[in-house]
Amino acid sequence: MRGNETGRVSPERRGIIPVKVLSGKGSIEVCVPKSIQKEIEKLRADIRYHEHRYYVLDDPEISDSEYDRLMRQLLELEAQHPELVTPDSPTQRVGGQPAEEFPKVRHSALMLSIDNTYSVEDLRDFDRRVRELSGRASVEYVAELKLDGLSMSLTYEEGALLHGVTRGDGSVGEDVTTNVKTIRSVPLRIDAAKRKIIGSPGRFEARGEVIMTRKAFEQMNAQREAAGEARFANPRNAAAGSMRQLDPRLTAARKLDMYFYALLAGGRTPLALHSKTLEALAAMGFKVNPHRQLCKSFDELLAFIQQWESKRDSLDYEIDGIVVKVNDTRLWEELGTTAKSPRWEVAFKYPARQATTKVLDIRAQVGRTGTLTPVADLEPVDVGGVTVSHATLHNMDEVERLGVKIGDSVLIQRAGEVIPQVVKVVKPAEDGRAFKMPAKCPVCGGEVRRSEEEVAYRCVNVACPARLKESLLHFAGRRAMNIDGLGDKIVDQLVDKGLVRDVADLYSLTQEGLAKLERMAEKSAQNLVDEIENSKKAEPARLIFALGIRFVGEQTGKLLADHFGSLDKLAKATEEDLVQVEEVGPRVSEAIREFFDEKRNREVIEKLRKAGLRFEQEQVRKTGSKLAGKQFVLTGTLPTYSRDEAKRMIEEAGGRVLGSVSKKTDYVVVGADAGSKLDKARTLGVEMIGEGELVKLLGL
Ligand code: IVH
Repeated sequence: MRGNETGRVSPERRGIIPVKVLSGKGSIEVCVPKSIQKEIEKLRADIRYHEHRYYVLDDPEISDSEYDRLMRQLLELEAQHPELVTPDSPTQRVGGQPAEEFPKVRHSALMLSIDNTYSVEDLRDFDRRVRELSGRASVEYVAELKLDGLSMSLTYEEGALLHGVTRGDGSVGEDVTTNVKTIRSVPLRIDAAKRKIIGSPGRFEARGEVIMTRKAFEQMNAQREAAGEARFANPRNAAAGSMRQLDPRLTAARKLDMYFYALLAGGRTPLALHSKTLEALAAMGFKVNPHRQLCKSFDELLAFIQQWESKRDSLDYEIDGIVVKVNDTRLWEELGTTAKSPRWEVAFKYPARQATTKVLDIRAQVGRTGTLTPVADLEPVDVGGVTVSHATLHNMDEVERLGVKIGDSVLIQRAGEVIPQVVKVVKPAEDGRAFKMPAKCPVCGGEVRRSEEEVAYRCVNVACPARLKESLLHFAGRRAMNIDGLGDKIVDQLVDKGLVRDVADLYSLTQEGLAKLERMAEKSAQNLVDEIENSKKAEPARLIFALGIRFVGEQTGKLLADHFGSLDKLAKATEEDLVQVEEVGPRVSEAIREFFDEKRNREVIEKLRKAGLRFEQEQVRKTGSKLAGKQFVLTGTLPTYSRDEAKRMIEEAGGRVLGSVSKKTDYVVVGADAGSKLDKARTLGVEMIGEGELVKLLGL
């Protein structure tokens, strides 16, 4: 390449571009090859496109692993060129340190609330007022679902997400940008071509509702209960609580979503029709709820409202009504607002699906994991067209919080397909009887226990019929005893026909016996018998994991087997002995003791011994020495190896794989979608490597 007139070749001409980097003393310029910058930008654009297809349109074009591969490439490039990381890069959804508090931000235009109406008459009044005030004979409306979440305003500057602010009191909200960024459907950047749709303002605001799906809500509550934490009452509270987490990593784990319904530039709505605003938002890459309708008459509006009242259960998120907005946004200004709400929109609220009834009894129901859930038997009552005769009370904390007793009159509520809940006691019975958790499992008579920091009571007997099916599936799992062919169809039959009463009974099954089951050919019966026989050789570490002791996962199983060398020694270990084992704390050691203290569990173990399973660790696991003494942490999805495979390879080479990053960690192996461990590694300055480098270290 030729030089320029001054004899120097400009960095650009050499294919190198100067990049401003913030350093302690201000900004300095670093030179980066142009091709790398280009490659990074191309990757980001591709990833953004695929995130939009996946999270907004729900219509992915590439597989998860292809997406992960792109993300991993970007992560690697950004790790090599940290000066090129921008806040709107797809890798920056979860980042930064936990906040101390959320700064207050004033909204550019008030975030008003909406007037509620509860009847068709009220809605007719609204329509009449709008027509009278605007002097028009008829007015077009847009009807949208009223999502039950929390409203949020996002500001974009030159296409990049600048901040996300809660509604607050309508004029001042809280800046929760780091949390908003964790919502995968929220675009972090909107390119110039798309901004043209609304006239390319330098700054604009997109407003919408942050929600949690019912599915995500149920999953989150199940996890909270398992961890001994209180449940959230409904998805809206859960979404609001998640947005107010000071640590964005906690928000990221909550699977929130966001739908957009308003657009502002310079404090006003830039387009002439609200229907066009929704289309523009969608075209710019925002998620807009598809269930909306332009209604040219009042009857069309009523039809939409009625249609969604009966269909609302089919949605994966909760709605509490329909929002009706005048379509012509010029009328918005003419109509103006009252002190609290605009005159051009109104919410039609659906009646709450609640009813009052009497608690006839409270009993404990044993679930598939052994958890005892208090359930109220109710005097049957109609709730929005469905007869309800039971309601869940979730757990003892909830029973105490509600103060509910047998005989009380209670308010119950139904939402979606979920089991009805008790909201509150409306009239306590004079002679109300308190519910007590039974000391013995109502299904098997086994011991019922609650560990200190936990909400749930559980039956500790692994052979409890209520738990048995789940225990068998876990026992047979690939990473446990690896009994291929023992799926839930077979397990259901084995338990229902009384052929298997505990995991040890699997070892007395015969080919003839199995062949009698439905959908079981002779050949597959023989295969299953062989698989079961083969599983007897599994190492004690696998057996310990397979027993399904609470909190004892695969890794803990290995550590316990290595430490004690035999199942019998483990069974005799005291809690003090147990806490000596790496990664075993008081909670785990208590669970282990509890397991071996249950007589029925000890009986199962004796049966397993008689069946010839391996209780003794024969020798210390053979390990290579390439990575001897090296500590690894895996994070994110690797392009070719599964996490298990990578772990096994590292361990076979003498290395150790731990769950969290510390100063002692030698390498963090980074895959796509890496989370908090990556940040921790950065903060602690631990070496980060990709799969390629791991493979090199392993000498493969
Ligand atoms: S428009 C900030 N459209 O309902 C005011 N609101 O009860 C935005 N909501 O605060 C009003 N779905 O949180 C609008 N399609 C929708 C909505 C919606 C849910 C919420 C919003 C508002 C509340 C008023």
